[in-house]
Amino acid sequence: MSRFRILTLFSLGVFGLLIAYLYNLRTAMSSIVRTDDVAKLGAIVVGSGLAGLSAASQLISHNIPVRLLERAAKPGGNSIKASSGINGAPTKYQPVVDDAFYADTIKSAGKAMAALTAHREGLISNLTNSSSGAISWLVDNKGIDLSKVAQLGGHTFPRTHRGAGQTPPGFSIISTLLKSLKESPLFHLQTSCTVTKVLQTDQRVTGVEYACEDGEKQELHGPVIFAAGGFGGDAEGLLAQYRPDLAGYPSTNDPRPGTQPLLTALGAQLVDMDLVQVHPSGFVDPANSASPLKFLAAEVLRGEGGLLLINGKRFINELETRENVTNAIVATAPTSELPKQWTVQLVLDEGAYGAAKSHVDFYIFKGLMKKATIADLGEGALESIQQYASAAAGTQADTFHRTSFAHWALKDPAPDSVIYTGIVTPVVHFTMGGVLISNKAEVLKEDGEKIEGLWGAGEVTGGVHGGNRLGGSSLLECVVFGRTAGDQCAEYIKGGST
Ligand SMILES: Cc1cc2nc3c(=O)[nH]c(=O)nc-3n(C[C@H](O)[C@H](O)[C@H](O)COP(=O)(O)OP(=O)(O)OC[C@H]3O[C@@H](n4cnc5c(N)ncnc54)[C@H](O)[C@@H]3O)c2cc1C
Ligand SMILES: *[C@@H]1O[C@H](CO)[C@@H](O)[C@H](O)[C@H]1NC(C)=O
Ligand SMILES: *[C@@H]1O[C@H](CO)[C@@H](O)[C@H](O)[C@H]1NC(C)=O
Ligand SMILES: *[C@@H]1O[C@H](CO)[C@@H](O)[C@H](O)[C@H]1NC(C)=O
Repeated sequence: MSRFRILTLFSLGVFGLLIAYLYNLRTAMSSIVRTDDVAKLGAIVVGSGLAGLSAASQLISHNIPVRLLERAAKPGGNSIKASSGINGAPTKYQPVVDDAFYADTIKSAGKAMAALTAHREGLISNLTNSSSGAISWLVDNKGIDLSKVAQLGGHTFPRTHRGAGQTPPGFSIISTLLKSLKESPLFHLQTSCTVTKVLQTDQRVTGVEYACEDGEKQELHGPVIFAAGGFGGDAEGLLAQYRPDLAGYPSTNDPRPGTQPLLTALGAQLVDMDLVQVHPSGFVDPANSASPLKFLAAEVLRGEGGLLLINGKRFINELETRENVTNAIVATAPTSELPKQWTVQLVLDEGAYGAAKSHVDFYIFKGLMKKATIADLGEGALESIQQYASAAAGTQADTFHRTSFAHWALKDPAPDSVIYTGIVTPVVHFTMGGVLISNKAEVLKEDGEKIEGLWGAGEVTGGVHGGNRLGGSSLLECVVFGRTAGDQCAEYIKGGST
């Protein structure tokens, strides 16, 4: 063999080794990116409402770093506005033994239970069985006051928890969780950053694409917990697509596009997208009547004796269900098409005002209600109010079969009688539908298989509430499935399965 051939063979060999080495290095590098770095980077959470913050808290309790991306300038989502409370049973604050939460939830879900029955029953029993633990996590572990319990519509027992003070429950829960997260060096929050795409390699979610204020697209790598909330504020997008009859409705939710399409792009299965909760009374702010965002007019205003008028006339027993009151309003002609709204006068006398004083004073302060006289309400109002007052005094049966007038006290309504009034209109309040999840908060595909490396929690998911969400169960689902998502994602990262 000539020296030349030996040299050639030798250099081919070296070349081959080099190729092999580079190849190995590349795979080694990519496996480094896909395991060690991901673990180092930790988990990505999308959305800073209660579902996102519950997931983040749980990840950090497992020592996993969290990158939280939030589209809005301020964290908290719709969660921070929640005013009634969070459900749990049994808890130390309940005056009675409550064993009906599961049954009440199934009943409220209604006809939707006919499809995916076993799966829904599993989610609901996990939700209700975990509710006691969710309340004690917030109270004992996080130090949040939830000592006051109320009974809301559709509940057999009182089980909706809030604090004893003036601070609304959504605000106290969100602000406390955020404060404790910010104390951890493992927590990194970026606001004004919108996730635009979920990244996937080899059927596995590996991160997100997002853009902050400068609009430049960036990527972040790691497994993803999606907690981006509902689509009640997406009037011209998802709402118009799934509920054309609700297109253009104002909402108690911040106006923003729904995010389910980012997940269906990966094959996520959607359920119940047409099931939307409409609340009959959102305030029309006289200073900004065309705003698509409305402040909720609490049910207590009607409960304490308030009445509703359209064109000076009553049209329903004001104490019927949200759905019935809404239907009665929308059966009349709207007074504006975009946003689509009606002009309904809400009227309280001095008696009803006294019983709902803290609410009404706050609404007056916000410019949503005012102190006025019956003459200011316009034509027909006096006659309608006189009939209502007679029914309240028991001298005449109520045209709409209303039997409870609570604290209404005005006996002889006259044009100069003092009343408290504001304009309300039906508002989109909550979207029951969304991506289907498992009891492990895994986002499921059409074939029922999970999408590897992706979890979902909160209003972005669907299936837990069926046709009608019980008041207080939304904050609960955020805590229960948010925490599960955090636990599962931590296990995934620690197991090195990225
Ligand atoms: C006025 C009002 C009162 C309510 N009262 C109660 C109550 O008393 N009890 C109850 O149980 N429920 C109540 N609800 C319902 C409940 O508040 C919500 O359903 C629940 O808080 C949803 O929580 P979430 O974490 O899923 O979403 P949210 O709290 O809405 O948070 C989602 C977050 O994700 C962000 N986001 C969305 N898309 C992106 C994206 N692409 N990139 C980055 N970030 C994104 C949003 O900006 C938002 O901050 C109320 C709702 C409203 C509007
Ligand atoms: C919830 O509790 C009930 C009663 O203890 C039990 O039968 C059911 O299996 C539980 N569900 C889950 C998902 O653990
Ligand atoms: C709501 O309306 C339906 C249909 O008209 C009626 O059967 C039901 O009794 C009403 N609910 C209440 C609470 O009045
Ligand atoms: C709910 O499901 C999760 C995940 O499977 C499980 O860890 C948890 O124990 C369940 N909770 C209840 C009360 O069944």
